[in-house]
Amino acid sequence: MSTHTITLIPGDGIGPEITACMQRVIAAAGVDIDWKVVNAGAGVMEEHGTPLPQQVLDSIAQTGIAIKGPVTTPVGSGFRSINVALRKHFDLYTNLRPTWSIKGTGARYSDVDIVIFRENTEDLYAGIEAELDSPEAAELIAWAQDRGLGSIRPDSAISLKPISVTCSKRIVRAAFDYAVANGRRKVTAVHKANIMKHSDGLFLRCAQEVAAEYPGIEFEAMIVDATCMNLVTNPANFDVLVLPNLYGDIVSDLCAGLVGGLGMAPGANIGANAAIFEAVHGSAPDIAGMGIANPTAEILSGCMLLDHIGEHDAARRIRAAIESVYAAGEVLTGDIKKILTGSAQGAAGSTAFTDAVIAAL
Ligand code: NAI
Repeated sequence: MSTHTITLIPGDGIGPEITACMQRVIAAAGVDIDWKVVNAGAGVMEEHGTPLPQQVLDSIAQTGIAIKGPVTTPVGSGFRSINVALRKHFDLYTNLRPTWSIKGTGARYSDVDIVIFRENTEDLYAGIEAELDSPEAAELIAWAQDRGLGSIRPDSAISLKPISVTCSKRIVRAAFDYAVANGRRKVTAVHKANIMKHSDGLFLRCAQEVAAEYPGIEFEAMIVDATCMNLVTNPANFDVLVLPNLYGDIVSDLCAGLVGGLGMAPGANIGANAAIFEAVHGSAPDIAGMGIANPTAEILSGCMLLDHIGEHDAARRIRAAIESVYAAGEVLTGDIKKILTGSAQGAAGSTAFTDAVIAAL
């Protein structure tokens, strides 16, 4: 059995509890991992003076693969978000979020199986903004007027939306490569090119060009508002979705809502040289330390990590074990029990749920 070296960032809030559950399940599935534990988040501010110490960046640079618990973003630290900082530092341009219905979770739909590729580095999330009444805003307003591009009200704040050929093509290629490698049938590119002819128009054109390189995979383009409507009415029509950053953020939460909420949603941020896996939900300070958090999303993020390092059999067995625990419906954490019965009374804690998953392996 070979040993993999992986960086582990337990995070804070419920992070340490759910990452411990994930580690136990992976060990029980027989995968040997040498965990390099470093931490980020509010809990390390005092010791390191920053929520993202250099040793975290060094460890990920060394191992190339990390799994995170959620971290609380300290308010007013000058740090927008540790997650955004990590994505930028390692150019993790793919945000990969698979969403599928698990029986017994109270999911709205039983036939959802959608994989989302969200561009992670540009679009309105580039952070290039001009504040109300700032000289930068005044300059941009004057520039747009002078060039005949349009008039902007003087009492405006402005956010720029850069969309590049480089970033559009690499995210669409990632979606098609995934579709080929995983036997998926269709990729849908989501846009609003009818209104934003240059930025979204470029994303759409890049998607069409890349799609032509993959004749074996069906391609369709869909306007974002129509996509939302169709996802809610007929999610089984969708397979792999590829979206620019903002639409990807919104539509992936919509998809999580179709199948039982954020507590079930795993995710990954992947670049050319590093990958960071993490549950989609946050640090849940309201239930931290109580031993009642649902570790499913973090364990499923661990399965994505296992697939990434070639441990497909262990990943498949863990997913099957989770599905069988939900199908049996006897050992459920409070969040799911509440969805199913209206009350969390008699719910299992994180450890009992993890024990049940391990027993089902
Ligand atoms: P949240 O996702 O932490 O919590 C929202 C609600 O869902 C809470 O009631 C919480 O108890 C519940 N919840 C979340 N995960 C759960 C789980 N595994 N089991 C059972 N219940 C769960 O979102 P919130 O409260 O907006 O954010 C809290 C902190 O987390 C903030 O500082 C935020 O910046 C941070 N955050 C971190 C993320 C990350 O590190 N990836 C992602 C999102 C938020």
